Amino acid sequence: MNKFLNKILLGDSLEYLRELPDNSIDAVITDPPYCSGGRTASEKSMLPSKKYEQTSNTTIHRPDFIGDSKDTRAWLHWCNLWISECYRVLKDSGYFLMFTDWRQLPSTTDAVQIGELIWRGIIAWDKGRGSRAPHKGYFRHQCEYVVWATKGKCRRNLHAGPFAGCYQYPVKQTDKFHLTGKPTPLMEELVQIVPEGSIILDPFMGSGTTAVAAKMHNRNFVGFERTAVYYEIANERLQNLYIKK
Ligand SMILES: C[S@@+](CC[C@H](N)C(=O)[O-])C[C@H]1O[C@@H](n2cnc3c(N)ncnc32)[C@H](O)[C@@H]1O
Repeated sequence: MNKFLNKILLGDSLEYLRELPDNSIDAVITDPPYCSGGRTASEKSMLPSKKYEQTSNTTIHRPDFIGDSKDTRAWLHWCNLWISECYRVLKDSGYFLMFTDWRQLPSTTDAVQIGELIWRGIIAWDKGRGSRAPHKGYFRHQCEYVVWATKGKCRRNLHAGPFAGCYQYPVKQTDKFHLTGKPTPLMEELVQIVPEGSIILDPFMGSGTTAVAAKMHNRNFVGFERTAVYYEIANERLQNLYIKK
């Protein structure tokens, strides 16, 4: 485990996950590529920057990332591979939290259950009214979701909880280090589902927000990231955090 503890490693998470010991992780909190952002296969296979970057925001262009162009069936199969590994490495009663959007929500809840985890609920992340609406006939796509599950029984928590079922955090450009980065305060809330000293696994670290939040709250992390530029950004964020601490 020392090879992995409090490090973000560059490469394919599936390869690394296979090296992790059984029953060694307290919680998986992750934000994999959604492979969403369109109705048709060709729309979904566009570059993430085309799918997810707001055209009104022309000043900031964040780098693209790998792995966001699978069609729904391929995505579900791939999720099954890595979620099965997460199941194996989780301790009994360990938490599994996975971000998704409205398009992929049905496939995400399927993926979690196919992976033998017990699906327990959905947490809403309300991004507020800054979210784009294509025209006045639309309901805003204002929320993303965290599908949560446990490996077997959901034990009563002694250190904290119950936890909120809905979190409201806008995306701030100054706190966004990835094309689809999550707000640090949101991740700070989520890492606190496990006590200090616990180990949190994020196989898709992106710019490292899960790791930063974990360290801010004295939790350990294990993380992987396949896109080199984001691997570097994530490690730089961690270095800056360690310097501040
Ligand atoms: C949605 S982003 C995560 C963003 C992150 N939550 C943040 O706040 O920065 C998903 C990340 O998974 C990475 N990824 C895609 N396929 C991967 C794989 N097989 N192994 C490891 N990382 C992968 C992508 O490069 C991308 O940066």
